[in-house]
Amino acid sequence: MSQLVQAEITDCREPAPGVWVTEFLAPSLAQAAMPGQFLHIRCGEGSDPLLRRPISIHSVDRLSGRMKIMFQVVGKGTAWLAGRRDGFLDIMGPLGRGFTVFTGEQASHNYNRFIVVGGGIGAAPLYFLLQEIARAGHAQRVKVLLGARNAHQLLIPDAAEELGFAVRVATDDGSAGHRGLVTDLLAEELQRKPDYVYACGPSPMLKVLCAMLNDAGVPGEVSVEERMACGVGACLSCVCRVKDANGMEIYRHACVDGPVFSAGEVIW
Ligand SMILES: Cc1cc2nc3c(=O)[nH]c(=O)nc-3n(C[C@H](O)[C@H](O)[C@H](O)COP(=O)(O)OP(=O)(O)OC[C@H]3O[C@@H](n4cnc5c(N)ncnc54)[C@H](O)[C@@H]3O)c2cc1C
Ligand code: FES
Repeated sequence: MSQLVQAEITDCREPAPGVWVTEFLAPSLAQAAMPGQFLHIRCGEGSDPLLRRPISIHSVDRLSGRMKIMFQVVGKGTAWLAGRRDGFLDIMGPLGRGFTVFTGEQASHNYNRFIVVGGGIGAAPLYFLLQEIARAGHAQRVKVLLGARNAHQLLIPDAAEELGFAVRVATDDGSAGHRGLVTDLLAEELQRKPDYVYACGPSPMLKVLCAMLNDAGVPGEVSVEERMACGVGACLSCVCRVKDANGMEIYRHACVDGPVFSAGEVIW
């Protein structure tokens, strides 16, 4: 059930050039949030910009009720957000369908080895997923692959390692880890037949990744990014093409049916 809250900002920092992390207090949202879901945030005091901006949930501390978003400044709304040092954020959420987190019997028997792949700012929602996997005690079963333009833009490698995950990185310029694309690392890992892959990143990366999973016969989930207006299934601005169970092409709302879809389902 989504809520409308006024969340008090408790911290704001810039971990990488142009990338901000804002922390705020929202106990009821923190209780309800699942990894991969997003918040629809009013990014201005008046009516400009009119539309809220969708930002994924980056981390949640259910005990203290503190949550974080991690976002890149690309335009008016995110620039406004980056300028908030205190005060309150007007937030609607949690919205959308998030990642499947396997627990108990299912995690032990059917799904043992996971890969989590993040490209650029796509790492933002994956950190909350990693928090939940670590809480379930499955960090040792997961390999995290992160890609970025350069070492300064790599977003969560240290934080993921602190949670107990094995991390491999790739950078376009070779300033950290493998020189090249994060999908090069995925190709190596797919040889070892993981059971499930989670991914978030730019559309060209997800398109290649879904084709690789399809070829390797490995299931997974990807979080897609569409322009969104209402965020609740009412305006059709976020429609995306997917396949139904019979392989027929159908349209789905990324805001309510996603943003996380099964990797085999999205038509790129
Ligand atoms: C479900 C979802 C979760 C998201 N989570 C995050 C997140 O955790 N961190 C983050 O940094 N960004 C995230 N985004 C993207 C974020 O919503 C956009 O960057 C933001 O809306 C841009 O607003 P603006 O007013 O700053 O830019 P605008 O002035 O609206 O646009 C500036 C530029 O950004 C591009 N842009 C705007 N919206 C989107 C979008 N939805 N997808 C791709 N490009 C866009 C425009 O084409 C334009 O080039 C998410 C998007 C979706 C749909
Ligand atoms: S954003 Fe309006 S229907 Fe999805």
